[in-house]
Amino acid sequence: MIKVVFVCLGNICRSPTAEGVFRALVEREGLGKRIAVDSAGTGAWHAGEAPDPRAQKAALRRGIDLSNIRARKAMKQDFNTFDYVLAMDLENLAALKKLCPPCEEHRLSLLLDYAPEAGRRDVPDPYYIGGQGFENVLDLIEAAARGLLAHIQKTHF
Ligand code: 4NP
Repeated sequence: MIKVVFVCLGNICRSPTAEGVFRALVEREGLGKRIAVDSAGTGAWHAGEAPDPRAQKAALRRGIDLSNIRARKAMKQDFNTFDYVLAMDLENLAALKKLCPPCEEHRLSLLLDYAPEAGRRDVPDPYYIGGQGFENVLDLIEAAARGLLAHIQKTHF
């Protein structure tokens, strides 16, 4: 089983969206029993909460239901559990580096490094932008999800 966790700041906007989009792609490709998907936040303010209603609505318009996801804080232990720890931006990558045992740093990367055609490294935080910000998050995540799955298939299967 290959295990993947997406990490943003609050775990209520970007990373649950990535979890939902990537899980849907994995299931569509018939790989649901071979790839496990989760998400977490480097901050704990929203722990236990469902994704932001704006993120849920935007995802639902693309056929993806995020309603069962609950926010949790990223932990040091995640670097033993997950093969891929994918930060949504450079700020969260830096926070994760502090949490990560040096020998496990190979598990850590930026999500958008799997979408070089996007021409950017950060998935912008939509929390204070709203509307179009959530559509932009979905577009970037959909591109990176395809790149990430192609990488996993080539590397492990
Ligand atoms: P996320 O967005 O990191 O994509 O889940 C945010 C959600 C909440 C906050 C910041 C970003 N906040 O400051 O509460």
